[in-house]
Amino acid sequence: MKQQLNIVVNGEPHELFIEPKTLLVQVLREHLGLTGTHQACDSSSCAACTVVVDGMAVKSCSILALQVNGREITTVEGLAQEKSLHPIQQAFIDNWAFQCGFCTSGQIMATKALLDENPDPTREEIQAQLDGHLCRCTGYNMINEAVRDAAKRLKARKDLESQKWLQTAKSGKGAK
Ligand code: FES
Ligand code: FES
Repeated sequence: MKQQLNIVVNGEPHELFIEPKTLLVQVLREHLGLTGTHQACDSSSCAACTVVVDGMAVKSCSILALQVNGREITTVEGLAQEKSLHPIQQAFIDNWAFQCGFCTSGQIMATKALLDENPDPTREEIQAQLDGHLCRCTGYNMINEAVRDAAKRLKARKDLESQKWLQTAKSGKGAK
């Protein structure tokens, strides 16, 4: 018998009725059409299907959708804003951190979870976070470089936002 699932995906609430055996990856890809989350194995061994659930990187093929009832999920489609790619996406492009791109959305989402928690990770911390993310075509060094570059870009963006906020506060425009 179908059961009700309420989830927020990329900021948008969804109410669905699904079979209890439905995996999270199936809900994302087949029910919501978010095919940026890839499914590459049947054995929970590639991490291509990684999404962020309440801030944690999760393999969406290894969890029942009903286990995330009431939670917030971010997929790769939720990163870009308007017409700008997210700094992590841009860093992967600029550092040649993918070739076929099949594993990339999973790598990017694991990076997002890492940098939200730890904005300045060491090379070893990046390796630990991406451990188990299989890539058949790109060197893992380039992926590690991309994550370090993404961390710098996110810091620069944060600094710029703080500067803008300070300038607005000083000019009194933000005051009500
Ligand atoms: S598709 Fe391989 S771990 Fe999820
Ligand atoms: S870029 Fe092809 S599998 Fe990783």
